[in-house]
Formats: sequence, structure tokens, C-alpha cells
Amino acid sequence: MNTALNELEQLSLGVMAQVLLHTQALPLQVWRNAEQVNQALGTAARHAWVVRRWLVALGGAGLLREAGERVAWRTPPPDPQLGELPRLYGALGFPASMARLHTQVIECLPDLLRDQFTLTHLLMLGGDPVKVLSAYQHNHFTATINQALADRARQISAADGQLRVLELGGGAGGTTDAVLAALQACEKDYRFTDISSLFTGAAHRQFRLETGMQFGLLDLNRSFSGQGILPGTQDLVIAGNALHNARDLPYSLGQIRSSLRDGGALLFSESIADNPAMLTFMHLLLSPAADAPLRPHDEAFMAADAWDLALQATGFELLEVWPRACEPLAAAGQRLFHAIGV
Ligand SMILES: C[S@@+](CC[C@H](N)C(=O)[O-])C[C@H]1O[C@@H](n2cnc3c(N)ncnc32)[C@H](O)[C@@H]1O
Repeated sequence: MNTALNELEQLSLGVMAQVLLHTQALPLQVWRNAEQVNQALGTAARHAWVVRRWLVALGGAGLLREAGERVAWRTPPPDPQLGELPRLYGALGFPASMARLHTQVIECLPDLLRDQFTLTHLLMLGGDPVKVLSAYQHNHFTATINQALADRARQISAADGQLRVLELGGGAGGTTDAVLAALQACEKDYRFTDISSLFTGAAHRQFRLETGMQFGLLDLNRSFSGQGILPGTQDLVIAGNALHNARDLPYSLGQIRSSLRDGGALLFSESIADNPAMLTFMHLLLSPAADAPLRPHDEAFMAADAWDLALQATGFELLEVWPRACEPLAAAGQRLFHAIGV
């Protein structure tokens, strides 16, 4: 599996190089800084961070030479073999639709970066967005992390006999599915939330027959109590790959902490770094809307140490980060975090 991951990363670096060379954004033997590259490519301001991350990734892979803020090609990688995508995505446990989607996105990357149309629009053409998100979350790594999260959820005890669970950014319900299976024998009050009614509606259809379920909208960037979650009421908050949507992380972690009783648990999964494959694909969805302020920094994901500090600063103690860096599963860059409110 890790070989496929590595091949996918190399192929995606090739995709970045192809875009930069074919559009003349960074021609051979020319030195440019990131701003000049974005200008030559015609990148929309909201996506400029993506191209800056490309330059970091290409530099990190030794493909660029650096002089101050300017870069030039050392050895551009070979043209990417897009025909390999179905094999690579298959080896990572993704459904075939992911390779098809990534291929389409790669073919449109310059236009997407120029905002001639949006990735959301392209994904909509591919059909039901809930199915698209579900396919994106359907892979060996995420499934294993979801199962590990569910195993920890089973160990959490209720303050008063009924386990109160709040799920944030529940999306297509992959994390929910694993957690509900683990909590089957338990008396629970499980509130599935997301910012989008597309996802809460789909979750309602999928999970409405489970006992103790509620479904509702919740924006993790706004006051939880203003959205019906009273302070100190929850035993467990869950977020599967959702907390990177926090615009002000201390604020959102503070809201989560307030919603938990003392000793209540926060279980969440997150990527701890970006990767070339997603930088040429789904990460374009992390750009702000055209009329919103630009991202305050380019890194969309935080290292485990930074999570530890952010959790400590908002009234949590981090008990566990899994898998550890030395384990083979760690190569995918996803981690499960288990914290408790202190
Ligand atoms: C990667 S998906 C979650 C995947 C989910 N664990 C699953 O298994 O399908 C991230 C989710 O966060 C939601 N989201 C984005 N911004 C949000 C916000 N501000 N508040 C709450 N949810 C948000 C998205 O709608 C999306 O469903």
C-alpha cells in the first residue's frame, strides 16, 4: 500500500511540473518567485496558496533549486502517466470513481486554478456530492482510522447512563457508521451534525432507524450554544477529518471544550500534512470563497505537536496520537487524536 502511496505522490509531482511547464508559469532555466509563478499562471487569488504549496512540495522532493525566494527547475520529473491512476487508487482501497475524478481534475487544473470554473462545479457534474465525499473517504487508511476511533469511543462512559455524543462535520457518514457499530449495545443520544443540509439529509436517510439519533446543522466556526448545544452536556465529541475547517481553531476547540462535561472526550482524525496527490485534487476545495478573506497561512494541516499545544491551550489533555510515526500506517499522514477535557 505504501508503495502505491509513494507512486501516487511521484505522479502528482509530475502533474504539478507539467502544469507549470506547459503554461510557462515556470519555464525551464528561468528563476521566479511564487508570486511571479502565480501571475504567469493567472491563478485566482484564492487559489494562490495551492501553487505556493506545489513549489514547497517540488522543492522538498529535490526537483527545484532555490535562491532566496526564487526557484528554478533542477530536474523536472517525467510527464505523469495518468493511466496508472486506476491501479494506484485501487491499491489504496478507493473506489474506481476516485481515479476517474482525479484524472478529470488534473486535465482541468490550469482552468480550475484560474477560477474559470470551480472544483465544486466539476464534482457536481460527477453526480451526487454525498457519493463523491463518500468515495473520497472510502480507502484503507481512513477506514482503519475510523475503526480505531470507534474502538476508543466504545471505551468512553456516560455521566448518567446515557452516552451523549456530538459528531461534527459528519459528511458522508463513514466515521458515523464505524462509531454507531461500536456503540450498538450502549444507551445513547447521538447528534450527527454538518454545516451542509446535503449531508445531514443524507445521514438522516441512512441512519434514522438507529436508536437515539438526532440530525442537525452545526457550523464549528460559530457558537455551539447558539446552535442548540448546551455547555457541559456532551460525554463525547467526534470529528472525522473535519476540524481543519475551523477558521479560528482556538475558538472552535473552545466551543468543543465548553460543550463537553469535565472528563468528557474528544476523538478526532486529521491529516497532519498535505500531500502532492491532494494538492492536485481535493485541496482546491479548501480555498476560501471568491468573496471571503484569503487564507491566513498556506498550511491547511497541523503537525501532531501543534495539535497538542492547541488542545492544551483550550482545556484539553491529549492522551493519544495514533498511529505512531514509526508505524507503516503513519505514511498516509492521517492521525487519530484522543483528548479529554480537564
Ligand atoms: C472530510 S469531510 C468529513 C468526512 C466524514 N468523517 C465522513 O466519513 O464522511 C468534512 C466535512 O466537514 C464539513 N464542514 C465543512 N466546514 C464545516 C464547518 N464550518 N462546520 C461544520 N462542518 C463543516 C463538510 O461539509 C464535510 O462534510
